[in-house]
Amino acid sequence: MLPAQGPRRLALYRSLRGLIESGQMKPGDKLPTTRDIAKRFGVSRGAAVAAYEMLVADGFAEARVGAGTYVAEAVPLVQAAPEAQAVVEAEVAAPLPGTLGCSTADETTLRIFRMLMNRHLTQPSARHFHYNDPAGSYALRVEVAAYLKAARGVVCEPDQVIMTAGTQQGLDLAVRTLLKPGDPVWIEDPCYAAARELFEGAGLSVTPVPVNGEGIDVASGIAARPEAKAVYVTPSHQYPLGVTLSMARRLALIDWARAANAYIIEDDYDSEFRFAGPPLSALQGIDGEGRVIYLGTFSKTLLPGFRFGYLVVPRHLRERVLTIRRLTDRFPSTLAEDALTEFLRDGHFSAHIKRARKRVRAARDVLVEALREGPFQVSAPEQGLHLVAELAPGADDVLLARQAREAGFGTKALSPLYQGQSGRRGLVIGFSGFPPEVLGAAARRFCSSLG
Ligand SMILES: Cc1ncc(COP(=O)(O)O)c(C=O)c1O
Repeated sequence: MLPAQGPRRLALYRSLRGLIESGQMKPGDKLPTTRDIAKRFGVSRGAAVAAYEMLVADGFAEARVGAGTYVAEAVPLVQAAPEAQAVVEAEVAAPLPGTLGCSTADETTLRIFRMLMNRHLTQPSARHFHYNDPAGSYALRVEVAAYLKAARGVVCEPDQVIMTAGTQQGLDLAVRTLLKPGDPVWIEDPCYAAARELFEGAGLSVTPVPVNGEGIDVASGIAARPEAKAVYVTPSHQYPLGVTLSMARRLALIDWARAANAYIIEDDYDSEFRFAGPPLSALQGIDGEGRVIYLGTFSKTLLPGFRFGYLVVPRHLRERVLTIRRLTDRFPSTLAEDALTEFLRDGHFSAHIKRARKRVRAARDVLVEALREGPFQVSAPEQGLHLVAELAPGADDVLLARQAREAGFGTKALSPLYQGQSGRRGLVIGFSGFPPEVLGAAARRFCSSLG
């Protein structure tokens, strides 16, 4: 989506230039036809042609006679103006079908939130007018603790829950609390890139530990780096491969953490979306010794733009985490907290999950069906909001992901998510943010573009 104000050709030019400068479009990438880009951004064909001419004139693109327009091989080195950055962000907010991490607008949920927010704005609590608890509102933590106990088998009381701005802030708090630059940590291989990058950015010494059909291979981790101080895992639904950490491995991981005096950072990001069989309990529930820091999020169940998640911490870490929280972003939005508290307390959340689960399950089935027309090995996952469409060993999944984007299908290549071992090849595809027919059409268009 383009910003609403200003001439369309300029807005489109800035948006495309932002994508090129930020590396999201690479030298040599083919730009869509002016007809396609005009349709996608809702501008006139003339505005698209003018925007392309400006990109060519400024050296960001090259027009090749009879072949279309391409990102220039040598993009001019200019500092993107803050205004251009804002346009990049606007573009990021308009993803292609298949893009990971999207959620669908649920009309009932939006209506309830509108009503709740309205009420809290018309009869505002005194809390909104002063500074609050860095752990978040107690009433909300009561609801979250009750939900986690009942639905996820997490053993906790409200004082152990800390509301965060999503998993990412929870990870950051965990890292700042437990670790210092140079400390050894294990990550899964392949791994959620936002977690790996955060650990690397914090100067930790990261050891990728292979994941196989039973989840992270604890014995390999011990062989490679027994003295690690922490491990980041997605035990209920490994990201991106989707496997579940077996009970034997869960116990081995906890045993190692006890012996090594290490912490387990458990990211339980999408367990609410289980389509077959009983939900799997969290690893935190079998720990018993305060070795697990549990992370959850409302980004998948509700929407990423809400920026709400939570940490469940062992009591002995609570004060340290809260000191860091107070010094970094003080406390969560009390207004949003109050609305969320009532949403949970009044049973709207479980009704919302039921509706969302039904919707994404339908999208999953349509996606799997469509992908069977392509060169993939694919089956319907029993949990989560994404799948891996696997390719033959050695296939160029990075190229294929780029081709998919050109065909209007937003996927992520699997192999770059691997660090150590030579990885499997495939496309990681989300099925949560788009209606089944839109997702299915994008997948089919891509498959038929492959010939
Ligand atoms: C593995 C994993 N953890 C957590 C999240 C959620 O992140 P956040 O809560 O910061 O939005 C995602 C979202 O894509 C994810 O893939």
